[in-house]
Amino acid sequence: IPVSPFALVVFGATGDLAKRKLLPAMFQRDLAGQLPEEATVIGAARAHLREDEFLALAREAIEEHVPASERDAQAMERFLARLRYVAVNATGEEGWQELAQALAPTKERIWVFYLATAPSLFGPICEHLGRFGLAGGNARVVVEKPVGRDLASAKAVNEVIGRVFPEERIYRIDHYLGKETVQNLMALRFANGLFEPLWNAAHIDHVQITAAESLGVEGRAGYYDTAGALRDMVQNHLLQLLCLVAMEPPAQLDADAVRDEKLKVLRALKPIADALSSQNVVRGQYRAGASAGGAVPGYLEELGAAESMTETFVALKAEVETWRWAGVPFYLRTGKRLAERVSEIVIAFRPVPHSVFEPSAGPIKPNQLVIRLQPDEGVQLRLMIKDPGPGGMRLRQVPLDMSFSTAFGVRNPDAYERLVLDVVRGNQTLFMRRDEVEAAWRWIDPILEAWSHAEEPPKPYTAGTWGPSAAIALIERDGRTWADGGS
Ligand code: BG6
Repeated sequence: IPVSPFALVVFGATGDLAKRKLLPAMFQRDLAGQLPEEATVIGAARAHLREDEFLALAREAIEEHVPASERDAQAMERFLARLRYVAVNATGEEGWQELAQALAPTKERIWVFYLATAPSLFGPICEHLGRFGLAGGNARVVVEKPVGRDLASAKAVNEVIGRVFPEERIYRIDHYLGKETVQNLMALRFANGLFEPLWNAAHIDHVQITAAESLGVEGRAGYYDTAGALRDMVQNHLLQLLCLVAMEPPAQLDADAVRDEKLKVLRALKPIADALSSQNVVRGQYRAGASAGGAVPGYLEELGAAESMTETFVALKAEVETWRWAGVPFYLRTGKRLAERVSEIVIAFRPVPHSVFEPSAGPIKPNQLVIRLQPDEGVQLRLMIKDPGPGGMRLRQVPLDMSFSTAFGVRNPDAYERLVLDVVRGNQTLFMRRDEVEAAWRWIDPILEAWSHAEEPPKPYTAGTWGPSAAIALIERDGRTWADGGS
């Protein structure tokens, strides 16, 4: 689908997200020949940088985040020539006139305002955009998470943005939805006749969703300590994955049809009755340990504090109270400084109803469909086969494995590359609608509320492991095990 000429304004252009993701993403799309000639990127931030200083910053960011083998000097110069910089004070008057002037020659194009800033600036930035006549029909606004830190604050943030932009021009990013394999989940479910008839409580025993990171909080401890894993990962990324697994097939793949179905799932989530019980929810926090062969500090050392009640790990059991999913637990798990970086969805099917084999054939393991998000994107179907050879009937589980990089030999674009261009195209399918974000908070709020009364700190776990043992007990109590890691 062709991309119309656009001007992308990145607020927070000198920040981490712009340097790590947005500038490299736009560079990659330029490299792929997808940016129209008239596409420009305007960096906006508080710092008084000269344009050449911003260009140097952008060059450095791209050199750091795009492998040298994927770029050349000519492509770099072509991309840098698209960049402008305007110093703008989000909460004051300075710079807005200049920004309006910089945009004036692009009046006929699509304007994308990307707010890669602290959420407290969303309101002031939108208000200025409105006042300076920049929020008209061709303008879209993109906001990064976190959208709020609970239901009330999320409503307040949505309210201030909504005063200036109508919902159909607000794009709330959840970068997990831009991941190739996440979109593939929709292809897998709705472009194959094989799975959908089995996609229900009659055939699926349970679902596991894991987003494990090996890194710690790095330089983000300040932000992270005010958020924690539940707000940082579960409220958005993990619940979005759960929605895509659990939703009914939408009638078409248009934005509202998909989001209506996801919303129904969020509304059907059973409230967690006692979030202080580790039978329902496990909170953890890493201690010093080892990761990738080296010693790493604990969370409190990284934070530089003697204590903190913030969780760096969460495991919980969710239930979707619908006809399709009655009695099928969804085990969710995420954490920092775990044994490996691996994110995956495991659909665990029910065991066969009766075994025709002798006990000597060995146990029959139930089938699993594994949708691997990272690091090696792909899909795996775990099947039972007869062990090859003359040794009689012995059963073995083997993976029918498809790694996308091996199968297609193409580079998997980063989520942001896809998502920013979707904004330009006006496609909201992979963005969260206001009611979805609020419904997710409505389910999360009671957990946060219960935790706010917790006397016991999060359970410690050693960096480089699979989290507190209570997370293993959470699933094993139900007679199940984590499919990969931690069992
Ligand atoms: C972000 C969280 O939304 O997702 C980070 O704020 C986390 O804490 C990141 O590290 C994980 O993203 P990815 O794409 O590396 O799985």
